[in-house]
Amino acid sequence: MAYALGAATAVAAGEGTRPRHVAIIMDGNGRWATERGWPRLVGHRRGAERVKQIVRACPDLGVDWLTVYAFSTENWKRSTEEVLGLMKIFRRYIEREAESLSAEGVRMRFIGGRERLDRKLQDLMASIEARTAGNTRLNLTVAINYGGRDELLRAAQRLAARIARGEVEQPCEADLEGCLDTAGHPDPDLVIRTSGETRISNFLPWQAAYSEYEFTPTLWPDFTPQHLADILDRFGLRKRRFGGA
Ligand code: IPE
Ligand code: IPE
Ligand code: MG
Repeated sequence: MAYALGAATAVAAGEGTRPRHVAIIMDGNGRWATERGWPRLVGHRRGAERVKQIVRACPDLGVDWLTVYAFSTENWKRSTEEVLGLMKIFRRYIEREAESLSAEGVRMRFIGGRERLDRKLQDLMASIEARTAGNTRLNLTVAINYGGRDELLRAAQRLAARIARGEVEQPCEADLEGCLDTAGHPDPDLVIRTSGETRISNFLPWQAAYSEYEFTPTLWPDFTPQHLADILDRFGLRKRRFGGA
């Protein structure tokens, strides 16, 4: 059947409707630091602290899938110092948070190409994915070296290999979806971008085809659980039609 399977679940709009899956483009760390005369990496460190708070707030806000954009396939264009500093922040986040994420019932996964990441980071990613695989309270997905076009290209290659092996004859949307890094994840109901930019920057182009969008001027290091709660309240007022009348 050629129907899209990963369709968003929070269909009904109206008061009280909560998005089940929230995705966030965490932008503005650099500007937050520069405004204060500090190096950009200080903003990234503060941004990582924010991730911890938002992750903790999600289950009480009724969110059971949270996907965050941490590093894009285009972010390699930045200075070596910034890129290496970000990679160190990712390693530290996993090392320091592993214990509490496990204890708090968070299942952590990663999307994006892994080969370009250093070995130590790849190992940490695989180990926390395995360690938290049985958790169900919150599904946390972190996009590192993620680009929607890169993901679609890799998915197309996987699908072509399946066709060549005779496993698939006439590919349908679900077949391609099953080859994405997000195979098995529900589509995001709501995508939030901080920092005032109103573009998607290669984030989840397939999965967010019918997502609602919220753009807020708040820079990511200033984004609190209260900001998230307010955005989620407004989500309940939206009418989602998915092409229907
Ligand atoms: C988002 O903040 C984090 C990453 C892209 C890694 P930025 O670093 O893009 O911050 P601005 O947009 O320059 O302020
Ligand atoms: C998008 O932010 C990527 C992440 C938040 C990880 P960017 O700051 O890289 O996006 P552009 O360059 O403003 O589009
Ligand atoms: Mg930015």
